[in-house]
Amino acid sequence: MNLQKAQEQLLYWFTQHGRHDLPWRKTTDIYRIYLSETMLQQTQVNRVMEEYYPKFLKHFPTLASLGEAPLEEILALWSGLGYYSRAKNMHETAKICKTTLPDDFKELQKLPGIGRYTASAICSFGYNQCVPVVDTNIKRVLRRFFALQPTNDKTVWEKAELFLNRSRPKEHNLALMDLGSMVCTPKSPECDLCPLHAHCQGKNDPESFTQTKKKEYISMELFFGVNIQNKKVAMTPSQGSMYKGMLLLPQIDPIEENFLGSYKHAYTKYRLTVNLYKSEYIPENVVWVDLESFLKGHYPSLVKKGFKFFSKAHQATM
Ligand code: ADE
Repeated sequence: MNLQKAQEQLLYWFTQHGRHDLPWRKTTDIYRIYLSETMLQQTQVNRVMEEYYPKFLKHFPTLASLGEAPLEEILALWSGLGYYSRAKNMHETAKICKTTLPDDFKELQKLPGIGRYTASAICSFGYNQCVPVVDTNIKRVLRRFFALQPTNDKTVWEKAELFLNRSRPKEHNLALMDLGSMVCTPKSPECDLCPLHAHCQGKNDPESFTQTKKKEYISMELFFGVNIQNKKVAMTPSQGSMYKGMLLLPQIDPIEENFLGSYKHAYTKYRLTVNLYKSEYIPENVVWVDLESFLKGHYPSLVKKGFKFFSKAHQATM
């Protein structure tokens, strides 16, 4: 295996086929790179690029502006993206760092929500340091390229370090990322189009090197009460870890009366069945939200769905 030749071919492929237009690749602003890396965890590129990333940056153009904002405003702009702890952690980090993030790989990992991957991405894509990056796409490429049988992450990071192109580390990392998402895909990889084909040790059976974690879902049933008084709806800040801090409809005990209907909602690993009831229950920490602002406001999809459902059936009562 000729690693140098493979590096060159990878970069040549990247020049021609890489996703150079992604907005976070056209900036050197560390905050913007940090935001993109946080949003892109567990969320698809297009959703981030087209909607959430520009909207968020419009409201919070700098790390300082994020640190100074109330958490509720940040969560509101994050609503619909899920995994709200990401937003909370960013807020904490912004409050700690004030104007910019450290440029040290270890220091970065001491900050809330920044793990090895995010720290390496910030160092490589933001600070142009000579460090390897391993996300799920890169991991799959490396496992195939070096024919690594199910292995611990340490070995994969070591291989990433070994393969790193020390003259152009940032482009090398981005190229591996794009190769994993466009060519070296989990199922039916397009080995014919792959710039690493000649040197790849796993090309004869690439799928055998795909570590497939079986997805486990948790089914849950929720019972929400819809209480509208004087054109205001009763909401309550969520206590649970799922929607921590977001305003939700109050949960009530399942009852027989005033059942409005139920709908399904998928959120992270949860498969929820939500039962809606017309209710007069007022929770202790109630937040009365003006109906009009509610309809225009930012709430988790779980709540919006319920409200659409409710308003369709009960327009007359509102
Ligand atoms: N470019 C830089 N980081 C990225 C990521 N996490 N996903 C897609 N493209 C990226």
